[in-house]
Amino acid sequence: MTNFRFSTDLPEKQLFYDLFLTTGWNIQYKLEPDELYEALNQSWYCISAYHDNILVGFGRMICDGVVHALILDLIVHPDYQSKGIGKTILNKLVDKCRQHRIRDIQLFSVKGKAGFYQKCGFKDRPEGAPGMEIKKIR
Ligand SMILES: CC(C)(COP(=O)(O)OP(=O)(O)OC[C@H]1O[C@@H](n2cnc3c(N)ncnc32)[C@H](O)[C@@H]1OP(=O)(O)O)[C@@H](O)C(=O)NCCC(=O)NCCS
Repeated sequence: MTNFRFSTDLPEKQLFYDLFLTTGWNIQYKLEPDELYEALNQSWYCISAYHDNILVGFGRMICDGVVHALILDLIVHPDYQSKGIGKTILNKLVDKCRQHRIRDIQLFSVKGKAGFYQKCGFKDRPEGAPGMEIKKIR
């Protein structure tokens, strides 16, 4: 892999906002940079990937510190995808959970990305026991 630098420090607000916009998710969420940054700030653990000083990848977890962790916002900039950055970030998030003996690590895959997570060791939930959600968007 090219020399990418990985950091557990929070990225700069605008750098993360720009990366987040590449996903198209904000069409639905309509988050302001400050709101998004507040969410990052409340995370249990974050990993940022840089090429020089460009933020090219990111992933974070919310967690109760003992039982449950939820992986969120795993994003690799489109220009840097398929270089192993996503897998490296995901592995670092999972390693952090292992260090803390977190019993359950969960995530929601967007459409078309389940194969990526399966390659990284994640499994679909059992038939008849899906993840569920309720959407409340202003
Ligand atoms: C999903 C995402 C994080 C993957 O990151 P990436 O850096 O491009 O992926 P990697 O290069 O680390 O890929 C690791 C492995 O998964 C495979 N892979 C990547 N995307 C895949 C996909 N959509 N389906 C199946 N396999 C996939 C790669 O071929 C690679 O396989 P290998 O280990 O055999 O070589 C990236 O595509 C992304 O940011 N997408 C936009 C945001 C998004 O959808 N995030 C996921 C939210 S749930």
